[in-house]
Amino acid sequence: MNDIKKVAIIGGGTMGNGIAHVFAQSGFSIQIAETTEELADRAVATIEKNLQRMVKKEKITETEMSDTMKRIGTSLSIEEAVSEAQLVVEAVPESFMIKKEVFETIDKHAPADKILASNTSSISITKLAAVTSKPANFIGMHFFNPVPVMKLVEIVKGLETSDEVYEIVKDLAEKLGKVPVPVHDSPGFVSNRVLMPMINEAIFCVYEGVAEPEDVDDVMKLGMAHPMGPLRLADFIGLDVCLDILTVLYDGFKDPKYRPCPLLVKMVDAGKLGDKTGEGFYKS
Ligand code: CAA
Repeated sequence: MNDIKKVAIIGGGTMGNGIAHVFAQSGFSIQIAETTEELADRAVATIEKNLQRMVKKEKITETEMSDTMKRIGTSLSIEEAVSEAQLVVEAVPESFMIKKEVFETIDKHAPADKILASNTSSISITKLAAVTSKPANFIGMHFFNPVPVMKLVEIVKGLETSDEVYEIVKDLAEKLGKVPVPVHDSPGFVSNRVLMPMINEAIFCVYEGVAEPEDVDDVMKLGMAHPMGPLRLADFIGLDVCLDILTVLYDGFKDPKYRPCPLLVKMVDAGKLGDKTGEGFYKS
């Protein structure tokens, strides 16, 4: 189980293509599963663009880039993508129902000794693991955007995750040049339990007319040395993702301190989701 060479990534969106990028760059053979040819091509093109940026900055050579690209394949079928993989990392949208369907499909087709990891940013690892026939082999592997740049991987142990699987995945994160941090399964884990209330509070400042978005962000950038202000970061993450995570926190703890700001709900309802739609708190 611990001789992992082939990895399947389910979903080639922002997180999925970043995860594929770092695994492929570290020598792993990758299959990305996507739902359409266009999305699969877009995932590969994004990885190529990000590798090209690293070549330009002389962080990697042209040869390293082409070797990395050669290790990446795509498939329109989850069954096919996972068939030879020893590790599967799921990075589909942040919805329990979508993830459940993906893991049911994987479980039907995967040999029992595969490790199944979810990149969920807040959904219970224990609940996702329960969809599969081997919850001991299930774990959270939570990467951060932009994946090639951010050092952290939150490694989330579900109720039944085995110590062996935890150790293997921790070592893997280190092989990717990341810093694994162990966290127990709890709504939002540590990262989003701390980050999302800050973003939500920044949105309340705008909602209540305390300050304009740029001014809220300047306070946090210039006063607290954050690389991006919370509202710029919310646009970068996706306002729909922020709302989904806050909803998981609110439902999970039944504590009003996690209630999503009505302005966030309104912006998501209007389709202003941040960078991905060209408009959120900022126009991109
Ligand atoms: N791939 C590869 N490299 C990339 C990249 C990508 N997609 N995006 C940026 N980079 C590299 C650049 O090449 C650059 O490298 P050098 O330092 O060697 O020059 C470096 O990152 C910085 O990039 P830029 O100079 O273009 O821009 P910047 O200085 O404004 O930094 C940033 C951009 C790294 C995104 C920075 O603003 C930042 O750290 N922001 C905060 C990001 C953050 O908090 N992410 C976590 C979000 S939460 C999440 O993901 C999880 C969740 O559950 C919601």
